[in-house]
Amino acid sequence: MSSDHPIGIFDSGIGGLSVLEHIRKLLPLENLIYVSDRGHLPYGNKHYDYILKRSQTISEFLLGQEVKAIVIACNTATAVAVGHLRQTYTLPIIGMEPGVKPAIRQSRSGLIGVLATQGTLTSRKFQALLRQHANGAEIIFCPCHGWVEAIEHNGHDHQETHKLVKQQLEPILEAGADTLVLGCTHYPFLRATIENIAGTDISIIDTGPAVARQLYRRLADQNLLSKEPSAGSETFWCSAATEQTQELLTKLRNKPTLVKALPEVSY
Ligand code: DGL
Repeated sequence: MSSDHPIGIFDSGIGGLSVLEHIRKLLPLENLIYVSDRGHLPYGNKHYDYILKRSQTISEFLLGQEVKAIVIACNTATAVAVGHLRQTYTLPIIGMEPGVKPAIRQSRSGLIGVLATQGTLTSRKFQALLRQHANGAEIIFCPCHGWVEAIEHNGHDHQETHKLVKQQLEPILEAGADTLVLGCTHYPFLRATIENIAGTDISIIDTGPAVARQLYRRLADQNLLSKEPSAGSETFWCSAATEQTQELLTKLRNKPTLVKALPEVSY
């Protein structure tokens, strides 16, 4: 493996772009390949075998692109597949995890809301995280029904999306939560909506920056940081209608973004 190879990043949809943004800031010279598995979205209510298979298929595709590391920019896919992928492949694989630990450290009321998909909340990995770190804290879990689909189909700033978030967030706020964990990579796009509903005094924990730092450390340890003299490129692949995704990404990134069709090879 050589330092001029790209980094692969994947998510069920556009959520992982919230992680890509942090990676880009920290690693400006890296070439990034992003896969949105939009044709199989949402992961959050799918069977674990299905998510594992999709994660394997995308990882195989990324390995075909000769990536030097993979970032699973999806909490649900990490919860289900990271152990298996690390056993199968030797390259660095970085995953997401809801920021329960930092949330507990900084909460004053001791009441925390964890916003994540059903798949993440019911996973063994997440249950183990709670056993390890949640001692004493009161945690309210929100499976955020429909949020991912709303962001993907209506947009994060749409009135319907706002209504949906408000409905499910209000009981947590009324219970006295002062800290919210964004346990799904789609939700950072809702930060403004959440602050609008909860007020700016609420603490919001996003583990995207920590994941970018972890990626940096892993590449540095293996002498795999890019030594290219110029800014890295970004290439986008998607398993659903590319024109639609192209439109969505162009709007979200505020610049024309080309999206290629992911070849449908099953693992
Ligand atoms: N963005 C993903 C996550 O972090 C998954 C959303 C979904 O497809 O349900 O969990």
